[in-house]
Amino acid sequence: MPKRYTVTAALPYANGPVHIGHLAGAYLPADIYARWLRSKGKDVAFVCGTDEHGVPITIKARREGIAPQEVVDRYFEIIKKSFEDFGISFDVFSRTSKPIHHTTSSDFFKTLYDKGVFTESETEQYFDEQEQQFLADRYITGTCPKCNFDKAYGDQCEKCGSTLSPDELINPVSAISGQIPILRKTKNWYLPLDSIQSEFLNDFIQSKTNWKSNVMGQCKSWLKEGLQPRAMTRDLDWGVKVPVESAINKVLYVWFDAPIGYISATKERYPDTWEKYWKDPETELVHFIGKDNIVFHCIIFPAMLHAHGGYIMPTNVPANEFLNLEGNKISTSRNHAIWLNEYLVDFPGRMDELRYVLNSIAPETKDADFTWKDFQARVNNELCSILGNFVNRVLVLSHKYFGGRVQNYDLNNPLDLELLAEVQAIQNNIDKLVSEFKFREAQFELMAIARAGNKYITDQEPWHLIKTDEKRVGEILHTCLVLTHAFAVSAIPFLPFTSQKLFHFLNVNADSTIKGGALLNQPELLFQKIEDAQIEAQLEKLKIQASANQIQSPTDTVKTIDPIKENISFDDFAKMDIRVATIMAAEKVEKADKLLKLTLATGLDTRTVVSGIALDFKPEEIIGKQVCLLANLEPRKLRGIESQGMILMSEDENGKLVFISPASLALNGATVR
Ligand code: 2FM
Ligand code: ZN
Repeated sequence: MPKRYTVTAALPYANGPVHIGHLAGAYLPADIYARWLRSKGKDVAFVCGTDEHGVPITIKARREGIAPQEVVDRYFEIIKKSFEDFGISFDVFSRTSKPIHHTTSSDFFKTLYDKGVFTESETEQYFDEQEQQFLADRYITGTCPKCNFDKAYGDQCEKCGSTLSPDELINPVSAISGQIPILRKTKNWYLPLDSIQSEFLNDFIQSKTNWKSNVMGQCKSWLKEGLQPRAMTRDLDWGVKVPVESAINKVLYVWFDAPIGYISATKERYPDTWEKYWKDPETELVHFIGKDNIVFHCIIFPAMLHAHGGYIMPTNVPANEFLNLEGNKISTSRNHAIWLNEYLVDFPGRMDELRYVLNSIAPETKDADFTWKDFQARVNNELCSILGNFVNRVLVLSHKYFGGRVQNYDLNNPLDLELLAEVQAIQNNIDKLVSEFKFREAQFELMAIARAGNKYITDQEPWHLIKTDEKRVGEILHTCLVLTHAFAVSAIPFLPFTSQKLFHFLNVNADSTIKGGALLNQPELLFQKIEDAQIEAQLEKLKIQASANQIQSPTDTVKTIDPIKENISFDDFAKMDIRVATIMAAEKVEKADKLLKLTLATGLDTRTVVSGIALDFKPEEIIGKQVCLLANLEPRKLRGIESQGMILMSEDENGKLVFISPASLALNGATVR
């Protein structure tokens, strides 16, 4: 086995918090691997950080009316904390907005530029004359040529899923100004992936005999299609400036600078020795990513490293498939997700439970589905009933019969040696599986230690034997303690918090052994059952998230103008009872970022309305405001609060919500018609 490893986990975009899909896809497997390597005494650099460039971040900033830097500052902190909370043991968690990254990626580009690697090409791109800027693909909307959906983006139609280029859109419109963009010439620098393919990539991919089949499948299909030159610069003002004099208002393509972020992060953490992690052929480089990142890590980044020269190539890229949630795709824009920061509010201290379940269902070979009921079943039936029960019995009996003192044990007793040999074989198998990136199976094996222990103590019945053979009970419990210690050692990569608790109960660390005469610490319950009510609350929360999201405008798209709906009769309109009302009180709804609970004076009554406006308004700003209320909308419960109607809102050009209010003071209760 090599002695040194560079382990990377995909740099998350700093435009939102991280959810369980991210954890299961890249960060948890990467952490399991890095912890395991360290436990084998390897020299590991486990690097990550936030990816702070790219168009989605500028879109989010524009929508919120703030600078992109403010967006990334906010999410860097949230993301970093979530990873720390879940024990993701990065050696460094950096950010691509740091000067060290700008210098590293700019120098990298300059080296390729000076070597004449890039081809220069002038193309026509859409330009917004009013805003005086080129439009990134996402900033152009129009009609999809494939399905006629009138709000397709320049890179993709979200209705039919087609990949598009902006020039395919019918009636393109700038999503920033609403104006029709013009075509203007611009020069960019291209990585000639076509020639790098024949000169290097074909052989490189061919040589990888131990890569996962999902990864290999994607790589081969890209190569079979034949790679095209790809622009490594963009006309944008947010990112790493292109270090070429003639490049005005151009930045590096986010997928050029992001993977270099791994190198910058290593440099930041190990300023004097970083090169051994990136340039020494003795080092293995392993990238943990989700399947949407395969082409960038298996093809484009290796092409960049090759063109640069002097760097090692990835040894393996064990990419995972996707995790779904309750049968549906996890969606940030529809808020169909379990956010890590919110999970810990609802389940404080229960990090290992989520790590355990996510690794049990990890999407290693195909998409997987997380359901709250399955979470409950795995925690209750496996962690509580098998592991927790075994550990609890061993420790409680040791305290009850021997005051917590480990009894001397005759290692020549063949029965117990057989059990310990079985455990040793399981541990060897865990090592083999982890070395093959089969973390899900490895964790199943880990639980085999607990299952064996549970069976052993049940079969031996020390609670009966204590009446006749106290010495033998001492030996049985000693065997169980050795087994618990073995479990704790093997569990370090998977259940780091539980391992630490076990070492504490056993009063030894990972490197020492259980010895006769030693004193154990007082145990506490290792895991608690998840109650039905907790699961129902989570299912309810997912529903509320989805409906609150419908009230509020979608958050990660640029504002587009809706087309006019079908005609309705006057009678249809007259069914709506819209009244003027005044906001008398407003408060945040607990644990719901987007909701405010409003108390409205309607002239006829005082009523409560729950409104999805909390991201745009503070409660104190809106008290006293006159608004329009749809007063006869069927009441419905949001977060357990009955909402009696809906206030009318619209949006400004940045997508910020604005009230629809009377232009001058009106009478509360007056009808809007
Ligand atoms: O897909 C993503 O979330 C990207 N931000 C991953 C970047 S990985 C690396 F190249 F930095
Ligand atoms: Zn379409």
